[in-house]
Amino acid sequence: MLVNMRDVLRAADDNLYGQGAFNANSVAQIKALVEIHEELRSPAIIQGANLANGFMGGCIDFPKCTLEDKKKGAKNIGDAVRKYAENSKISVVLHLDHGNDFDACKAAIDGGYTSVMIDGSSLPYEKNVELTREVVKYAHERGVSVEGELGVLAGVEDDVFSEKSSYTNPLQALDFFKKTEVDALAISYGTMHGPNKGKNAVIRKEIAIAIKEIMRHEGIDGFLVSHGSSTVPQYIVKEINELGGDITNAYGIDVNQLVEVTKSGINKVNVDTDIRLATTRNMRELFKNKPELKNVQYCGEIFKLLEANPKVSDPRAYLHPIMD
Ligand code: G3H
Ligand code: 13P
Ligand code: NA
Ligand code: ZN
Repeated sequence: MLVNMRDVLRAADDNLYGQGAFNANSVAQIKALVEIHEELRSPAIIQGANLANGFMGGCIDFPKCTLEDKKKGAKNIGDAVRKYAENSKISVVLHLDHGNDFDACKAAIDGGYTSVMIDGSSLPYEKNVELTREVVKYAHERGVSVEGELGVLAGVEDDVFSEKSSYTNPLQALDFFKKTEVDALAISYGTMHGPNKGKNAVIRKEIAIAIKEIMRHEGIDGFLVSHGSSTVPQYIVKEINELGGDITNAYGIDVNQLVEVTKSGINKVNVDTDIRLATTRNMRELFKNKPELKNVQYCGEIFKLLEANPKVSDPRAYLHPIMD
């Protein structure tokens, strides 16, 4: 069953657990995500990010992906999710991750997404409010939930609640919820995207606690999202490198910190990097165990790209989009 994000996050909020939200870049990953959530009897949030929609629309030169590519990709992803999730017993959300403008969100909604993120966090605050409101209006009229973002994710500053901090300001978060009527908010509280989060990244959970307390006090019914939450398992990094890769300085978030923040107001936990790393590890292992694949046309190209790019962990650098 396809649903928007509200009911799924309501259950997480009521029961103090974090709902994982996982990024997919292929039909095979969408199928696997539905199957594993069914096996675990868990609802699922499957995310297609901005570039994922371009990629699944057949565009491999990311800076040049057009709105047409994204529309095509959103439809391909939407079709795949419907195919695997429509008759499933679990609730499945198809969520746009980091939509960058109104048109990208509209393309996702028109392609069958049940939830979208509009990331206006790099805009001046009032512009972010304006853009997010516009998306909320279009989305809510169609039963689609919306996630916004406040704060700059890479910011690791000591002064948590100062004016200059790039961490999310709790009072501004309250104002943002009130003005935009978003369903969920991505906050900046010490995590960052990608495989290089630093060796001992610390989540400033007091930021999540403060925002949630203020929301409760003001009667705001909304959810909080943790981006950049991959744990970057060290055994996977080690295995990639033993299989010919050269991934350096790769560290993630300690899983115990993630468990703790889900008891302190975080409802949704975004993971992309860990899946990229696992895919890269598995592809390298496949070529080690079945070297004859190197002589098969399409596989041979993948192998050459992997061999030429030991530092790559994003599978889109060596895989071409496959639509089935
Ligand atoms: O949150 C960031 C996502 O991992 C980015 O995904 O490269 O498909 O836009 P993307
Ligand atoms: P990671 O790069 O830590 O997997 O974060 C993913 C994310 O936040 C997607 O929106
Ligand atoms: Na941001
Ligand atoms: Zn993110």
